Amino acid sequence: MSGQGTWLVTGAAGFIGSNFVHLALGERWCGRVVAFDALTYAGNLGNLERWTADRERFDFVRGDVADPDAVGRVFAEYEPSAVVHFAAESHVDRSIEDPAPFLHTNVTGTQVVLGAAREAPGAPRMLHVSTDEVYGSLPLDSTERFHEQRPYDPRSPYAASKAGADFLVRAAHHTHGQDVVITNCSNNYGPYQFPEKLIPLAIMNLLRGEQVPVYGDGLNVRDWIHVEDHCRAVRACLERGRSGETYCIGADNEQPNIEVVRALLPLLGRGELAIRFVRDRPGHDRRYAIDASKIRRETGWAPRIAWKEGLADTVRWYRENPEWLASVRSGEFLSYYERLYGGQ
Ligand code: NAD
Ligand code: TYD
Repeated sequence: MSGQGTWLVTGAAGFIGSNFVHLALGERWCGRVVAFDALTYAGNLGNLERWTADRERFDFVRGDVADPDAVGRVFAEYEPSAVVHFAAESHVDRSIEDPAPFLHTNVTGTQVVLGAAREAPGAPRMLHVSTDEVYGSLPLDSTERFHEQRPYDPRSPYAASKAGADFLVRAAHHTHGQDVVITNCSNNYGPYQFPEKLIPLAIMNLLRGEQVPVYGDGLNVRDWIHVEDHCRAVRACLERGRSGETYCIGADNEQPNIEVVRALLPLLGRGELAIRFVRDRPGHDRRYAIDASKIRRETGWAPRIAWKEGLADTVRWYRENPEWLASVRSGEFLSYYERLYGGQ
């Protein structure tokens, strides 16, 4: 599969999708990428700017994954040899505010892409990108970690919508023998992440001389992985994962939120006064932790980027790209799309 063929990447203009496209085209994982994205508030075609002139190897189609006609047209026109499905509503706080778009995109959208892949010529493999949040929450005072056999216990509307999507993907394999692989990854950090998530929000606020809001007591634990390591894991599962299987992805890097923020302070020349404890998120999951031994054993994948270096590089990227931060905050990036693909 590697090196040739067209990969359909949904949600390619978002954080992880755009990092995936940079690696897939930059390292020639495939012959061509078709990026399919609705360009919601979180999707920014500017993230893919370096490829938009390369019409041989890259194309962009704006569309909604829950729209069967739009999705069907992309499969018919490009005949992809593989599908990597990133498109989702991805922010827990927004899902608490309004779960409706999460059901639309994450549940209905996944079913539409799944059906289209199954009906398409050659029924290409679909790699469904999911989250560790489907497994629920672990206690702080345990060494227990999430693994593929653990029962699902989603506790936010976001996690519930991703769990629903995962079940639909599993069901398609069971019912139709469809070629699918599911990945459940822990929290990602790195360039191009929308500044509503903890790390880019903290960097942005610290750069602007503002405080970082830390929810509750700041002791909730997340298991952080650099986005490039996640993308390489997705590729490994796409190419070497067993059909119908689930793979948990993580980099053995559990950090309490307050320690994440404390690690950022010196990198941005700020002190403890830049931390502000705020009201906790309702239903805030206490701890996530991943046992990634299955993907390591079966595909040979291993994370490459150490937390300290990855975080310093990430801070450097946001520092060096103030115009990116300014444009995603203002929504200006939509006009970039209009300029390039105005007629589509
Ligand atoms: P993101 O919010 O940055 O990007 C999502 C992308 O999907 C955007 O480009 C958006 O425009 C697009 N999109 C949204 N609704 C759409 C629709 N109806 N049709 C087409 N495109 C649509 O998200 P992300 O952080 O890059 O996450 C990508 C995937 O990885 C998601 O499925 C998420 O659940 C999963 N994941 C994320 C993390 C993380 O830490 N960010 C961890 C594990 C898994
Ligand atoms: P987030 O980046 O929203 O990812 P998720 O909720 O999917 O894990 O949040 C990561 C952790 O940081 C989570 O425990 C909530 C916390 N958090 C804060 O303390 N302050 C913030 O401003 C944000 C956005 C998150």
